[in-house]
Amino acid sequence: MSATPTPRTVHDPLLFEVAWEVANKVGGIYTVIKTKAPVTVAEYGSRYTLIGPLSYKTAPMEVENVEPPAGSPLALSLQAMRDRGIKLIYGRWLIEGAPKVILFDTGSAYNRLDEWKADLWNLAGIPTPPNDNETNETIVFGYLVAWFLGEFAARHRTSAIIGHFHEWQAGLAIPLCRKRHIDVTTIFTTHATLLGRYLCAGSVDFYNNLQYFDVDHEAGKRGIYHRYCIERSSAHCADVFTTVSHVTAFESEHLLKRKPDGVLPNGLNVVKFQAMHEFQNLHALSKAKINEFIRGHFYGHYDFDLENTVYMFTAGRYEYRNKGVDMFLESLARLNSRLQKMGSKTTVVAFIIMPAATNSYTIEALKGQAVIKQLQDTVQEIQNRIGNRLFEHAARYDGELGTEVPDAKSLLSDEDKILLKRRVFALKRNSLPPVTTHNMQDDANDPILNQIRRTQLFNKKNDRVKVVFHPEFLNSNNPILGLDYEEFVRGCHLGVFPSYYEPWGYTPAECTVMGIPSITTNLSGFGCFMEDLLESPEDYGCYIVDRRSQSVEDSVEQLTNQLLSFSTKTRRQRINQRNRTERLSELLDWKALGLEYAKARQLALRRAYPDSFGDDEPDFIGTTRVGAPFSAPGSPKYKSGAMTPGEFGTLTEEMEGLSTSDYMGGRAWHGTQDEDEETSY
Ligand code: UDP
Ligand code: G6P
Ligand code: GLC
Repeated sequence: MSATPTPRTVHDPLLFEVAWEVANKVGGIYTVIKTKAPVTVAEYGSRYTLIGPLSYKTAPMEVENVEPPAGSPLALSLQAMRDRGIKLIYGRWLIEGAPKVILFDTGSAYNRLDEWKADLWNLAGIPTPPNDNETNETIVFGYLVAWFLGEFAARHRTSAIIGHFHEWQAGLAIPLCRKRHIDVTTIFTTHATLLGRYLCAGSVDFYNNLQYFDVDHEAGKRGIYHRYCIERSSAHCADVFTTVSHVTAFESEHLLKRKPDGVLPNGLNVVKFQAMHEFQNLHALSKAKINEFIRGHFYGHYDFDLENTVYMFTAGRYEYRNKGVDMFLESLARLNSRLQKMGSKTTVVAFIIMPAATNSYTIEALKGQAVIKQLQDTVQEIQNRIGNRLFEHAARYDGELGTEVPDAKSLLSDEDKILLKRRVFALKRNSLPPVTTHNMQDDANDPILNQIRRTQLFNKKNDRVKVVFHPEFLNSNNPILGLDYEEFVRGCHLGVFPSYYEPWGYTPAECTVMGIPSITTNLSGFGCFMEDLLESPEDYGCYIVDRRSQSVEDSVEQLTNQLLSFSTKTRRQRINQRNRTERLSELLDWKALGLEYAKARQLALRRAYPDSFGDDEPDFIGTTRVGAPFSAPGSPKYKSGAMTPGEFGTLTEEMEGLSTSDYMGGRAWHGTQDEDEETSY
């Protein structure tokens, strides 16, 4: 226990949540912190503060400066650090819930890096090589956070302080707090393990060998031993250790050598529309914007019917194998050949949204949008002129019978015809529509491009599957495909995320709450979570590829079949399925899942201040759980057992006595079921 017995009360504790992605978007951890803020603020109010690194580029857009109450422990602690040269921002994060944040400028403390590295070696025996920038940042950030918590805990002595740290990059403060006996209780939540991510990215049979890896050796071989040490000491020194899924709990036990106390599944801030059809309308509106891009991108080859086109996509950080892009492309190639053989008229456009190093857009991609825009403008001008001619003619009508309506031929002038012809000629093109929108810096070695070359998915005329690789995250200000990510997802028909390594995987979860069906795997935390909860996830647009118990070939076939069966659905079936998918969003709402975080905090307080808890005191105080929608007609067929999703991650002291198999299954629950009214597929 890091806390010493003091008269701090555990009834109105203070909470500091620390992550590298506070007001600093990198990947899914940003989504965890941001979407969870409203429920945490609802519980903690002004006793909640987030701590992150200060990025001068994004902070002004994310945070509004405020002054802490004069003379308060917080104000004095921050001032003490400022007085010693540390730059920081204190303010309100401009997101729903508006939580307070402290952002530390790590650059302002780099003059202490060597001193802190030496201290880390003396304190914990953790070595640090000189040129690992990410580790340097982690060290400086960790020392700043521990410094702050030390200053603050010394000044605020009335109530308990909880420090909740996410991932190794924010975890270093945990061993420091412990060694310095700072009176805070700590929680460490890992969202992956370093070794897991590295091993899976290579060609290792990861899941069958988890128990057998020589972890120090493997970390050393990959040059990440020092990072691994930081991660492992964060997990071991924390009062409570948690992770985001059962898959990662199992992995952590073997790779970090501490069994998590429980699982805190990731939720989302679910916004329910008043009217059921509203999200369907949004789909249609967003799809129209994607249609616009497609008309331009495929100019000269835009010979397919957009009314009979299915938009699929994958998106995320560029981790080729971990995110399953290899499997997606292979399955797309098979889908292409099956649709061709069937003589299908359907076109599938598959987008891959993954940032890579580029030298901006290709001329072709920009030209496509320009020529189609010119055509649109010209048609609009001609349309206006035709309208004027019609109007003039009608207005001048002098009563002569048979001349009320002008001759159709006279409506289009010769100039108009020439203009239109010119625009049509501009649409001619000798090359195929490009598979990528950007000039890649390393075109020849790019794994995605190489797989496209290998599978020959070149956007040929007879290809029923077309590919668009957009190697940059989406943004509505982009000159092409100018949509925000959320808008883009809404406009698509299916998200495809066949990950091999995915502790949780927000991308399919986000599809679900927007009512967009998606494919994931039983190696992703999200996939396992849904598989545990639902008897027949695929009926609700949550397809799960088995990548655990069958060969790669069988998984590719399974994915191909899922893609094919989705591509051959009718519009009516797709609309029905979107309605069903959207109903699952309740399962992913922080209003229910936030409870697991509350339990973790409760356990941390119990461990740090056991004397403050009587024997008959409930393990968990507070929030009411949102139940599964047993009575709603047409609601998902949950697996039976009167529990709600969060129960799977139940965090109690008793967890300590359980074995590995407890993470891995057998958590099905049995309860009443409803007949669904929509059985049309
Ligand atoms: N994302 C985004 N823009 C994109 C693609 C993805 O903002 O063009 C976000 C997405 O909304 C999700 C996050 O990136 O919240 C990825 O999280 P996930 O848990 O799927 O993967 P991670 O990157 O953390 O491994
Ligand atoms: C939504 C809209 C409908 C539209 C449909 C298109 O449901 O409310 O008006 O026809 O989307 O669906 P699709 O799956 O073909 O994009
Ligand atoms: C990590 C994982 C991802 C997870 C996210 C949030 O970045 O790669 O699977 O969804 O953290 O927990």
